[in-house]
Amino acid sequence: MASDDRHHDSAENGDAENHHISKKTKLTLTSLITTSEILSEFSHHDPTVARINNGSFGCCPATVLAAQRRWQYRFLAQPDLFYIRTLRPAIDHSRLLLLPLINASHIDEISLVDNATTATAIVLQHISRSFHENRFQKGDAAVMLHYAYGAVKKSVQAYVSRAGGYVIEVSLPFPVYSNDEIVAEFRNALNKAKLENRKVRLAVIDHITSMPSVVIPVKELVKICREEGVDQVFVDAAHAIGCTRVDVEDIGADFYTSNLHKWLFAPPSVAFLYCRKAYEFDDVHHPVVSHEYGKGLPVESAWIGTRDYSSQLVVPEVLDFINRFEGGLEGIMKRNHEKVVEMGEMLANVWGTQIGCSPDMCSSMIMVGLPTSLGIESEKDTLNLRNHLRENFGVEVPIYYRPPKEGEVNVVTGYARISHQVYNTIEDYYKFRDAVNQLVQDGFTCALLLD
Ligand SMILES: Cc1ncc(COP(=O)(O)O)c(C=O)c1O
Repeated sequence: MASDDRHHDSAENGDAENHHISKKTKLTLTSLITTSEILSEFSHHDPTVARINNGSFGCCPATVLAAQRRWQYRFLAQPDLFYIRTLRPAIDHSRLLLLPLINASHIDEISLVDNATTATAIVLQHISRSFHENRFQKGDAAVMLHYAYGAVKKSVQAYVSRAGGYVIEVSLPFPVYSNDEIVAEFRNALNKAKLENRKVRLAVIDHITSMPSVVIPVKELVKICREEGVDQVFVDAAHAIGCTRVDVEDIGADFYTSNLHKWLFAPPSVAFLYCRKAYEFDDVHHPVVSHEYGKGLPVESAWIGTRDYSSQLVVPEVLDFINRFEGGLEGIMKRNHEKVVEMGEMLANVWGTQIGCSPDMCSSMIMVGLPTSLGIESEKDTLNLRNHLRENFGVEVPIYYRPPKEGEVNVVTGYARISHQVYNTIEDYYKFRDAVNQLVQDGFTCALLLD
């Protein structure tokens, strides 16, 4: 939470020791960000929009954008010097700062890439080569969640299915109120592979699924993979860093990627890809091959041709920004989680619906059921409704279609994924509440939006 401006006037009188303490206290307090400073950091946000979708594209404060601009000018001032002397050490510095944040054991395990999509291509091309070069057999399996991100599913199709791999999807329940339900479905999928005598070469597991958004018990699923002899585990944690605690050692996957531009305040676009015991994976390469090919993924990724690397260089300023908040990253995550749960429950109560998972299974995003009278009957309806909310009410929020199961009547079929980030205020959620209330009151249904 931003420090309240009133707190800045801490007492400075008293004896020497007290004076010393109060001065120290004052120093700490004045360094905490204030509400007006937060407003100023995000003053480039469109003020007419209640932005309750941090999940899709994240956000970047003004001080970090200014630092990025400085790096861009530094490159343009003397590109040759920048390339020869500056770039690599600056990228290494960012990697080093990430090390304790994710609890990796060695800097060589961390590469900086553009985004989670690129990281996915790196891992899946590595798997694809194993099929093509006969280390894996045709019909060997890859397991992934049914709720895997659309682009990741396409990558699995492009790199695993096309190489001869057999894909098993783990169907997940939603709404979901217990991790046990997820674990049971995951075990079912691995059993299916066993029954069919398939060797499972890869498991792709989300840390936080995108739509619907649920925090997956990733450590437990990785442990099951190890027990069942799954070859390699890739965790798509695109949303995780800055949204939930990340401890790559503890999770124990072979590969783990997270965007820094979603919840860690970095500019678009930068992600890290962690490769456990990187030296064991000598065939992991960046999809864009350049001069450094064959020197290990971190070095390959640090030069993929002439381009703007500035988003990778501002990790120090990102951490400076985070440390202006009480409790640093932990504090931000805790407050975002508490707020998003509170707002989700408030909306569900007003609309007579429910939240889509128990509060301990969500992070800084939560799924909130929308009133059934809105008549959400397809994915197209969710897209139309989202556009309608943006264009007519100034609310930006993604919506998920949850088809009714056989026999279910009058069930909630539309869930909004709301986010909370440091720039949000309660008015954003009231705006959303009032917009939906207005639609209900007007007798609106999604059928009216069809052309
Ligand atoms: C679970 C998941 N994986 C991967 C991605 C892709 O991230 P990017 O577009 O930054 O590559 C996203 C983006 O929202 C996501 O939610």
